[in-house]
Amino acid sequence: MKEPVKNHEDRYRVLANKKAETQLGGGEARLEAQHKKGKLSARERIDLLIDEGTFEEIGSFVMHRAKDFGMDKEHFLGDGVVTGYGKVNGRLVYVFSQDFTVFGGSLSETNAQKICRIMDLAMKNGAPVIGLNDSGGARIQEGVLSLAGYADIFYRNTLASGVIPQLSAIMGPCAGGAVYSPAITDFILMVEQTSYMFVTGPNVVKTVTHEEVTSEELGGAMTHATKSGVTHFACANEAVCIDNIKQLLSYMPQNCEETAPKYHYTPAQDEGRTVLNTIIPENPNQPYDMHEVIEQIVDEGTFMPVHKDFAENLIVGFARLGGRSIGIVANQPAVLAGVLDINASAKAARFVRFCDSFNVPLLVLEDVPGFLPGTDQEWNGIITNGAKLLYAFCEATVPRVTVITRKAYGGAYDVMNSKHIGADMNYAWPMAEIAVMGASGAAEIIFKKEIAEAPDPAAKLKEKVDEYTHKFANPYRAAHRGYVDEVILPSETRKKLITAFAMLENKVANLPRKKHGNIPL
Ligand code: HXC
Repeated sequence: MKEPVKNHEDRYRVLANKKAETQLGGGEARLEAQHKKGKLSARERIDLLIDEGTFEEIGSFVMHRAKDFGMDKEHFLGDGVVTGYGKVNGRLVYVFSQDFTVFGGSLSETNAQKICRIMDLAMKNGAPVIGLNDSGGARIQEGVLSLAGYADIFYRNTLASGVIPQLSAIMGPCAGGAVYSPAITDFILMVEQTSYMFVTGPNVVKTVTHEEVTSEELGGAMTHATKSGVTHFACANEAVCIDNIKQLLSYMPQNCEETAPKYHYTPAQDEGRTVLNTIIPENPNQPYDMHEVIEQIVDEGTFMPVHKDFAENLIVGFARLGGRSIGIVANQPAVLAGVLDINASAKAARFVRFCDSFNVPLLVLEDVPGFLPGTDQEWNGIITNGAKLLYAFCEATVPRVTVITRKAYGGAYDVMNSKHIGADMNYAWPMAEIAVMGASGAAEIIFKKEIAEAPDPAAKLKEKVDEYTHKFANPYRAAHRGYVDEVILPSETRKKLITAFAMLENKVANLPRKKHGNIPL
């Protein structure tokens, strides 16, 4: 029997008891089952993410209002999601953490309202939203009320896109239409072995397509990190995932009206990096690892690759240069010669748009032989996908600097942040080759007849290749025109870039007035 409430003391005790109840989630047995799966609880995740003592919960007494299927007899305070705000490295964030121990973290009407509440606060106050997802999807007992709740979240995700950063960690199941909220957010991080995302699970797949596939193969972290590109990060465990969230936030501003925090940086006596002078092989067809170039250019230990395991022929990621946050887009000659293909183009386009939305300046390191030829690429839309990257660069108004380290061939020269599409500063290294195509291909086409009719066609071809190389396989033609602003020594690149980005710090550029553009999706 419940004790009657008598005085203030009693009321405070009731509150304390209720508060204690909110901490229990679905109860000890379910918490233990959660731990046995190698997963943390919703609150433990928040403790890891949020600076100690700064988390303020909102809506911990909320309960569902469902009555069907015996739900009127089963209530848990908080209704399966912990929501609130706090600080990450001293900066405000809003967070929701789905509690799998309460109805499998499933999304009910009230649970969705709690998530929407913190999204609305985040929008009004201009701070990121972090979603820690671990849910069996729509609360089956609530039917359309749950679906409506999802739609309310999707709508807010979309309106918040480009206004405040939105990060989604997937730390358990995320199935059905539930995947579309994370998909609209800026970055997805998945935990290996314990999380999965799919529109329809293995059972439905088997029924419809007769394919036998496990959850992990169908939608696990590595699947989405390598094959689909749905996730930007595959994390070894939950602690790594949360560390990645914190690091990611450090490169971002709180909202689209601000710039990312500038970290203390004492200029070094010598910003020269002589090792860069020997990084490019003498043979232009030999690969090298663009990661080594990046490491030499940026502030030590600050490079954070995004989409590391997807379309590895192109590198994107955040770093700091002289303490300033930058986004890097770089061709990777060590994989497929750094060619641009469908996946690389889509990956880079999305990254460029994130950086532009949130005032993160862009550095492009270019060594690209062109777009990948072939039926696979053409039939799957390299035209539309390549255009995404072109479009993304064209409309980016943040400071944009390009360094051509070696090849800048064909349409890829234009696309990879050329001066013509709005780059602010373009540098080239002395070994840069800027032309419509490689010298041997070019010579074979334009001197076809001459070569065929020569007494020694091989010698003629070599002569013509040499001629074309001499004329175009260098940066000076482009520099004479001002398409390249300066030809610089590789060793002085870091210094030049620190100075250039500082010079561009107050750049103002506006796009024509419009409702919104129509990026080729
Ligand atoms: C209500 C749910 C639930 C759900 C799980 N539970 N999913 N309750 N609605 N969607 C409850 C279970 O009844 C159980 O309650 C507890 O959560 C844990 O579930 P288990 O099945 O015991 O856990 P596990 O074996 O780990 O399996 C997890 C699971 C499985 C794979 C997620 O529960 C499952 O398949 N659930 C249904 C998934 C689903 O079909 N959801 C709808 C997708 S469609 P007790 O009381 O025993 O602890 C969708 C549409 C969204 O989401 C559309 C948006 C546009």
